[in-house]
Amino acid sequence: MKRIIIAIDGPAASGKSTAAKLLARKLGYVYLDTGAMYRACALAAKRARIDITDPLALAALMSRIKIRISFAEEGNIIELNGEDVSSAIREPDISLLASAISAQRLVREKMVELQREMGRHGGVVLDGRDIGTVVFPDAGLKFFLVAPPEVRARRRYLELLQKGLKPLYAEVLQEMIARDEADSSRELAPLVPAEDAIHIDTKDYGIEELTELLHRHFLKRAEGQ
Ligand code: DC
Repeated sequence: MKRIIIAIDGPAASGKSTAAKLLARKLGYVYLDTGAMYRACALAAKRARIDITDPLALAALMSRIKIRISFAEEGNIIELNGEDVSSAIREPDISLLASAISAQRLVREKMVELQREMGRHGGVVLDGRDIGTVVFPDAGLKFFLVAPPEVRARRRYLELLQKGLKPLYAEVLQEMIARDEADSSRELAPLVPAEDAIHIDTKDYGIEELTELLHRHFLKRAEGQ
């Protein structure tokens, strides 16, 4: 079968990235975490202490940063100007900044170009917010994963605990709701399902089961070819 593009969109902690990674592994595809790219831009903006709504400052920043993604067994390795920032971009304060910077046209244009370039030969599973609507509207298979905010906040809370941080559940939930709202209501490439996306509520699935379900959809689609 032709190696297709698989788009997995949805809000934060909906299970996208783990399922995307496992599905890619199962299919021998490449996994691309597009949120990590916006996170790398946010980290660069934080370090440079720029006001991301200042167009000149943002343009100057974007012209001097180079984001590179490579693939490892555990997931993507993200480099910002040659430095491995894969862990640094997961700091909690980067999430909101990534959401804010991702609403800027210049940033989206640059990241979408990179994503299209990396996916052009197919055989790739991308997770994000606008993959099925904007980046690859012709993707061969599209999923839109959702789960109630409380379920997603609990997942994120447990992840942070595991990292040795001391999160407050109420804060994690509040931040997640704020980020969903910002990502869904922005003007450019908002978080909305593509018309032809398969919707899945992930609250009832463990990660293995979810990956199996996505895989069954993949096989069904392959049969239909
Ligand atoms: O998937 P994530 O939580 O790592 O993404 C961080 C932010 O990046 C998210 O709040 C919105 C933005 N994002 C986006 O606008 N488009 C994408 N394709 C992926 C992420």
